[in-house]
Amino acid sequence: WGQQPELNAIADLSPELEKELEGLDGEFWVSREKLKEIVGRFREELEEGLRENGKSIPMNLSWVHDMPSGKEKSAFLTLNLGGTNLRVCNVTLHEDEPDLETPDTKSSLDQEQYKLPDHIKTSTAEELWTYVAEKVQDFLQDRGLDTTYSKEDPMPVGFTFSYPVTRNIDHAVLQTWTKGFDIKGEEGQDAAAQLRQKLEERDLPLAMVCVINNTIGAMIASAYNDPSTIIGAIFGTGCNAAYMVPLSSITKIDQNDPRLQASGNKPKPNKMAINCEFGAFDNTHRVLTRTKYDKQIDEESPRPGEQAFERLSAGLYLGEIFRLVLVDLADRGLVLTNQDTDKLRTPYTIDTGFLSQIEDDESRHLTTTRTMFKESLNLSPNDQELELSRRLAEIIAVRGARLCACGIAAICRQGGNREGHVAADGSVANKHPKFKRSADDGSGVGCAIIAAMEMERRGRA
Ligand code: GLC
Repeated sequence: WGQQPELNAIADLSPELEKELEGLDGEFWVSREKLKEIVGRFREELEEGLRENGKSIPMNLSWVHDMPSGKEKSAFLTLNLGGTNLRVCNVTLHEDEPDLETPDTKSSLDQEQYKLPDHIKTSTAEELWTYVAEKVQDFLQDRGLDTTYSKEDPMPVGFTFSYPVTRNIDHAVLQTWTKGFDIKGEEGQDAAAQLRQKLEERDLPLAMVCVINNTIGAMIASAYNDPSTIIGAIFGTGCNAAYMVPLSSITKIDQNDPRLQASGNKPKPNKMAINCEFGAFDNTHRVLTRTKYDKQIDEESPRPGEQAFERLSAGLYLGEIFRLVLVDLADRGLVLTNQDTDKLRTPYTIDTGFLSQIEDDESRHLTTTRTMFKESLNLSPNDQELELSRRLAEIIAVRGARLCACGIAAICRQGGNREGHVAADGSVANKHPKFKRSADDGSGVGCAIIAAMEMERRGRA
């Protein structure tokens, strides 16, 4: 993984372009030694984050203490507000029913995905939560769930809110926006409470039971079917991972916190799932090498200096890095001369889907890539420019994939060489050929399972 593969070139590059590309390859290449250094520093940050807040990656507490038994059941509504979509899902957990043959059918889903309108990410909290509540209402009405449930017997809701938050199991106070969101005044606010209020205003028969991060959802969903799961990872618009940590290692937590004591017939918990928020790895710039394109993305982002690791490796940024390199080459008269590059100059106009398509294009003359350039960028690259684009897309994705692997390797090594299953989900994990090899789980049901576990904990299930 990450070795330079054989390329089936459609054109030879001119010596000038070949030299440019070699230069870029050198700048983006992460050597083995560097990978080791990154994993080492990653391990330090994981440990620092468990000791204290503020110096390194957040290592946020989830208040989820157990992996699922695999026997949780019931019906739940799950809401997932990600960087690109809102997903509303009616999840039914069946437990082990004898007539269900494969473990995957332990749960069934009926879901709807709504692409977030671009303006919403920089709008107001009022607009954001009204939008979410409106879609939830549509979904309930469409499925007749608004009449199946009542205010007295509400449908339990699990909310996946995948941004860094300080949380209890059903509160989520936003620390900082990531993934291009920039709604002023929201940091420091309880996102779960705001959404709950909007749902209540519409009189919907819902009760929010838990709010979780997508990495925790991915881990729990996988563990429901496969007890050997040790990590939940997301490679999507952002990148991040979660894993279970013994409470005794989380020294920043007050071990006498009433929430950590035995209650009723529930024993004292001895571990907690931690959402690393490792997109913020190396915010202090100790180990990662950043190109001038990475620096530009950072400076022009709504939160310069934050999410240093994510900006080199996650879906939101891979296409943007590719775009900036092409613009740079065009400005220097090396590519796309005499073409209208207006569209190419629009920030974030190239998404990771574009790069995945280029790498997946097996047509002899890169016909699909050619069409994509025309349709989304109004450009007609010649064969050399197409060849350069293909190699450039690969250079950028390989760096991203190698860096992401460092985060996972560091978690596996922490506390000994742990063996087990890494559950990966997210648009990059599922679609990009360079990341796919690590991806095999969906996180859709994770949130419902945590809601079930929480209801059982509260003695209501
Ligand atoms: C960003 C978010 C994080 C999430 C990740 C993947 O890093 O801050 O909470 O898990 O993206 O979606």
